[in-house]
Amino acid sequence: MNTPDDLLKKVISHCKEYGFIYPSSEIYDGLSATYDYGPNGAELKNNLREYWWKAMVQMNENIVGLDAAIFMHPSTWKASGHIEAFNDPLIDNKDSKKRYRADVLIEDHIEKIRGKIQKEVKKAAKRFGESFDEEQFLNTNPRVLKNQEKISSIQERMKTLLDDEDLKGVKELIEDLGIADPVSGSKNWTDVRQFNLMFSTELGSLSEGANKVYLRPETAQGIFVNFSNVQKTGRMKIPFGIAQTGKAFRNEIIARQFIFRMREFEQMEMQYFVKPGTEIEHYEYWKKKRQQWHELLALGKEKYRTHDHIKLAHYANAACDIEYDFPMGFKELEGIHSRTDFDLKGHEEESGKKLRYFDPEENESYTPYVVETSIGLDRLFLAVMSSSYKEEKQKDGSERTLLSIPDFLAPVKAVVMPLTKKDGLPEKAREIMSSLQTELMCKYDEKDSIGKRYRRQDAVGTPYCITIDHDTLSDNSVTIRERDSMKQERVNIQQLPQLLEEKTSVSHVLKSLSAD
Ligand code: GAP
Repeated sequence: MNTPDDLLKKVISHCKEYGFIYPSSEIYDGLSATYDYGPNGAELKNNLREYWWKAMVQMNENIVGLDAAIFMHPSTWKASGHIEAFNDPLIDNKDSKKRYRADVLIEDHIEKIRGKIQKEVKKAAKRFGESFDEEQFLNTNPRVLKNQEKISSIQERMKTLLDDEDLKGVKELIEDLGIADPVSGSKNWTDVRQFNLMFSTELGSLSEGANKVYLRPETAQGIFVNFSNVQKTGRMKIPFGIAQTGKAFRNEIIARQFIFRMREFEQMEMQYFVKPGTEIEHYEYWKKKRQQWHELLALGKEKYRTHDHIKLAHYANAACDIEYDFPMGFKELEGIHSRTDFDLKGHEEESGKKLRYFDPEENESYTPYVVETSIGLDRLFLAVMSSSYKEEKQKDGSERTLLSIPDFLAPVKAVVMPLTKKDGLPEKAREIMSSLQTELMCKYDEKDSIGKRYRRQDAVGTPYCITIDHDTLSDNSVTIRERDSMKQERVNIQQLPQLLEEKTSVSHVLKSLSAD
């Protein structure tokens, strides 16, 4: 049984060993919080992106795609509020010279108290054995209750301070809790100050008079500034959506937990433009629809939970996170926000251009409200990898490492293997490979024993291995072996393309989505 920490470490090293993810520019010892996707990683990422794109754009007549530039006019970020308010509270330790996010230091302190509660639970479970009732213990044990009270009071105090932007108060809280630098143990802290998360660079050479531009911290703004372009050229009628996938950049102070929090990452966002007053209905629709989309990934229903925001940002009137049970616990995977007309109005004011919609049915024009769905592709990748990674003991005592990635997402759908390298088997295998490779991603492998080849494919999540043996030459059939069950079946070569298409294509998943 893997502990959560073990699992994350194993996933990281498996990703490296099998060509899914490498540290970026590794020959120079890497660059913190940036990663490169290898051959298998690039395929899996493409498949995830394709599943999202098809579910959002292809399956919805009133949603269209966009591919906006990463660089945008600097005024964009003024209008969106990112220049003024896209900040994290930062604190330095004067002795270790290490920099931290003040709220993360406090959250880590809370985690330690939670750890104490867990210890009490474990101790009691051991003492009471089978008769132990965890819920009753959590609700009645005085030490647990005291620690829970402590957690609530810290959380409440931190929230109020951050909402009020009371940075002096945040420092006082850190001092009151006696929080020490996790590296040096020193409590010698600087004041807390706001740190803007946007990366900036200069457009044009300095001699020409350079202009400061930002790397976009979210893809959404490319959609907002193109609202009228898309609406008019596509003759879109409200309600309609614009979807986009692409890189976003944030100078995260603490980027950690592998690809969960990176400085360069990919988002998949959709802004749904609706008539003011109808936004909550659409918000509820998208909240449900996005959960269905996740369920069809088959990572396990129990791995998800939704977290409704109680305290909302000033521009939102409803918001929730879809959280996933990552190896480090439940964390945000996707956000669904009802953002009112905050962004379009902001851009209208800043640009002086109208971003309104004339509603022919109502014979009136208005600034639409927006419901947004926003998911991080890299976080989704981590969810798939960590739920698929398995170590299994075989009947003969040997072990196999397996990635039980859903078939339609697997980097390689099928591997074609001649049993031996002679007797015309490789030629027959190549023939089969050519007939399949125009339809799906498949590979050819003739090296090592069949058993070793199976293990190699299990480790990269290939759902089907097709073996060509001597009988194939006479009966025109092959053995197809399924990854998870390891069951083998004899199949006629003619049936292979249709059989693999049915099992591995994204279409049947999309059909289930539209049927709901
Ligand atoms: N347009 C709304 C928006 O950007 P967000 O909650 O800041 O909202 C949306 O980001 C999603 O982007 C998150 O749910 C997460 O999956 C992903 N994301 C955000 N910051 C990230 C980071 N530093 N590394 C990886 N993914 C990130």
